[in-house]
Amino acid sequence: MSYVLLTGGAGYIGSHTALALLNAGEKVISFDNYHNSSSESLKRVQQLSGHSLIDIQGDILDSQALAQVFEQYPIKAVIHFAGLKAVGESTAKPLWYYENNVAGTVNLCKLMSKYGVKKLVFSSSATVYGAAEQMPIHESSPRSATNPYGQSKLMIEHILADLHNAEPDWRIAVLRYFNPVGADSSGLIGENPNGIPNNLMPFITQVAVGKRDKLDVFGSDYPTHDGTGVRDFIHVSDLASGHLAALGYLDKAPGIDYFNLGSGQGYSVLDVIKSFSQVNQLDIPYALVKRRPGDVAQCYADPAKATELLQWKTEKTLEDMVRDSWNWQKNNPNGYN
Ligand code: NAD
Ligand code: WQD
Repeated sequence: MSYVLLTGGAGYIGSHTALALLNAGEKVISFDNYHNSSSESLKRVQQLSGHSLIDIQGDILDSQALAQVFEQYPIKAVIHFAGLKAVGESTAKPLWYYENNVAGTVNLCKLMSKYGVKKLVFSSSATVYGAAEQMPIHESSPRSATNPYGQSKLMIEHILADLHNAEPDWRIAVLRYFNPVGADSSGLIGENPNGIPNNLMPFITQVAVGKRDKLDVFGSDYPTHDGTGVRDFIHVSDLASGHLAALGYLDKAPGIDYFNLGSGQGYSVLDVIKSFSQVNQLDIPYALVKRRPGDVAQCYADPAKATELLQWKTEKTLEDMVRDSWNWQKNNPNGYN
């Protein structure tokens, strides 16, 4: 039986997808340099599933190390999570982001081509829609980027389209995630940000656990139902199952295709705070402050294409997301450390 190779498999989304794959009876290899993770997440994935996986520490920029994996194991598909993802950091260190994300993907695809493994699921992002004007966002909406991180995702999307043009036997699913939050309901695996979190949910959980005094709500004068930013939050376990659906789809469908993975429902920052407080019976002190540069008022998906073609849709509610985020944080106040 052949393996599904996950680059970046020890990370937040990769570890939840590894769990879903193992639970579905797949064999899994993770290839991760642990820049933003550790093997502890994968130890817990194995504990939770009762199945083992192959955990390799390596960098996708290291062609030799990566080639060794293709030499050693039969691989039927790759899910490519490995990447740097902090928007602010990408503006400060653009070359690092382009090298790691873009050159790393080129490296991976060259080896996949060489070894005849031409089935790829790629972690793209709603960031490729830039400041979209029409809501909900359909896959055909215009693409643009407002920072080097977003540019790197957009460049990779172009590279994959060109690759498929040149070698039509590739099967590629480009998954554009909206705002992943939550954690496996066991509370054993979850998001483990380094330093001060940039994203809303880990910031809220760190306020709840007493690591931060209060949450700054960036902007209360947006043209939304309560003035705060609206996003399409998606539970990471739903997102994980979206990858299994994409792999199944690629078995039937040749070509390259693009899918929004979101719920289709927008919630505001205040909606999330209220839900978190109610469900977990915790007060979240917050202050309304000015907008964060680069933020858009609202961003939510039209997920109809994924529903139709991948036969996938989100199952979890906002209440599930805030409960599971807190369950992970309270059981692991210092993440995996
Ligand atoms: P993460 O940082 O938790 O996981 C990424 C993993 O890739 C980490 O374990 C990291 O150590 C590894 N990695 C990075 N560079 C590598 C390299 N050169 N070689 C080997 N491994 C490397 O992030 P995540 O939230 O799990 O995101 C996974 C993917 O999904 C990323 O590509 C990210 O851009 C994309 N994405 C994430 C979000 C989000 O909000 N979390 C939204 C949209 C898209
Ligand atoms: C959500 C809302 C903030 C923190 C980012 C990336 C995007 C994708 C997902 C990778 C906004 C508000 C946040 C805080 C706040 N990642 N907020 N106080 O910006 O929608 O998307 O992560 O691809 O590319 O840009 O997510 O969680 O940072 O913000 O008020 O301390 O919460 O202003 O309205 P965002 P987020």
